[in-house]
Parts: sequence; structure tokens; C-alpha cells
Amino acid sequence: MAEIKSTAVQGGFGRTQRRDAWWVENLPVWILLGGFGIYATLRAFENGLYDCLKSPAHRPYLSPFYSPLLNVSFWHWSPALLILAFPLGFRMTCYYYRKAYYRAFFADPPGCAVGEPSWRKKYRGETKFPFILQNLHRYFLYFAIIFLVFLWKDTFEAFWLDGHFFVGVGSLVFLINIVLLSLYLLSCHSLRHLIGGKLDCFSCTAANKSRHGAWKTASSLNARHMLFAWCSLVSVGFADFYVRMVATGL
Ligand code: FES
Repeated sequence: MAEIKSTAVQGGFGRTQRRDAWWVENLPVWILLGGFGIYATLRAFENGLYDCLKSPAHRPYLSPFYSPLLNVSFWHWSPALLILAFPLGFRMTCYYYRKAYYRAFFADPPGCAVGEPSWRKKYRGETKFPFILQNLHRYFLYFAIIFLVFLWKDTFEAFWLDGHFFVGVGSLVFLINIVLLSLYLLSCHSLRHLIGGKLDCFSCTAANKSRHGAWKTASSLNARHMLFAWCSLVSVGFADFYVRMVATGL
């Protein structure tokens, strides 16, 4: 039997026997996820230019970062800070993003079969604080479903202006965004488990048979989860950026 050797080389950050450009897969994570994190933080603190209906442009668009519109008297800072914790928590605990940012930002490891920093002696996975909090993903999923309903409502309203059907560029931006966000959520690993997990027999009852059908659909979407994760990240960032542009009158 042929001997299989690991391509990882002991004792050295970035050491490997891999000959491909393994670090290339970290590039989109640095640029897109890092850029999105900075942009979303700045926008969350901006506390303005998120509602085009009240702006001189008068368009039925509400930024997804500020949806649903909150009017809470006890809160004196930007309402986005109350909202973004949930969708951001959902993304940051996502199984795909975890793999991506552990590699790109924590070098843990920097790539498959690539050496980790030498000071990291003990592997504790996600069993200790703070990374044990990643297990909250399934609860963030429940909140994400609620937020998705609000975003669908905003999308329908983006096609309605002063009592008339209306189609603007922003309406289409919102439509593409909500479809991508829905695909991202529907392909979630936790949702797939919620639909088809903890069952011993798919064919025993009519209800289990329907769950099997739904589970197969969730599984086929799940195979493209990484794609939906990136596309929806770009689309939600762009939807907010577009709203901001319209609200400033550009
Ligand atoms: Fe990625 Fe749930 S695993 S959103």
C-alpha cells in the first residue's frame, strides 16, 4: 500500500510542501470581508443617509443596514448598532466564513497543510471562550429569518411609490440583493440540519417524506453556500451604498 505523506512541514509559520499559490484563496477574504467589515462599521456609526423616502430624491428605499426602522427612545446612538449585531453575528458564526477568516486573519492555519505560527502550541478548537460562542450560529439563524422577512418587505416597498407601482434602479438592486440573501440563508448548514436532522427514517411517515424532499433541496443549495456567502455580502453592501448615494442626491 502506498504511503500517504502530509504536505505540512513541522515547525514553522507558512512552511509547507505545497507548490501551488495556497495563499491566493485568502486574498478575497482580506479584501472583501475586511473591506465589508470596515465599511459596515463606518455606516453603522454614520446614523444618516439611509432613508431615501425622506430625502430630496424621494425614492422608496431603506438601507438594509438600518432595517427595520427603529424609533426607540432609550437609545441615543445609531439604530444600526442595535440591528447589525444580528446579521453580523449570523455571518461571523457561519461555518464557511469561520474557515475563511480563521485562515486569512488568524493564520490558524494559514492554509490547508501549511504551518501555523510557532507560538500557538495548544489547539483548543471552539471549546473555550471566545470561540465557543461560534456555537450560537443556530440561534443567530432564527434572528436572521426574522430580519429576512423585514428585508423582503423593504423590497416590495421599493416597487411602490406614492401609491403607484414603481421600478427604479434601486428596486432592481433590492430585488437582486434579497434573492441572494435568501439563497445564502436557505443554504445554511444549520438550516439544513434543522430541516433534516435528528431523523432515523425519512420514509416512515408522510411528514418525514416531505422533510426529506426539503432536506434534498437544502442540500443542493448547501453545496453552493460559499458562492452565496460572497455574492450576498457584496449585494447587501452595494444595496446600502446605492441607498446612500441616492440619499445624498448623487
Ligand atoms: Fe453559513 Fe449558516 S453555515 S450561514
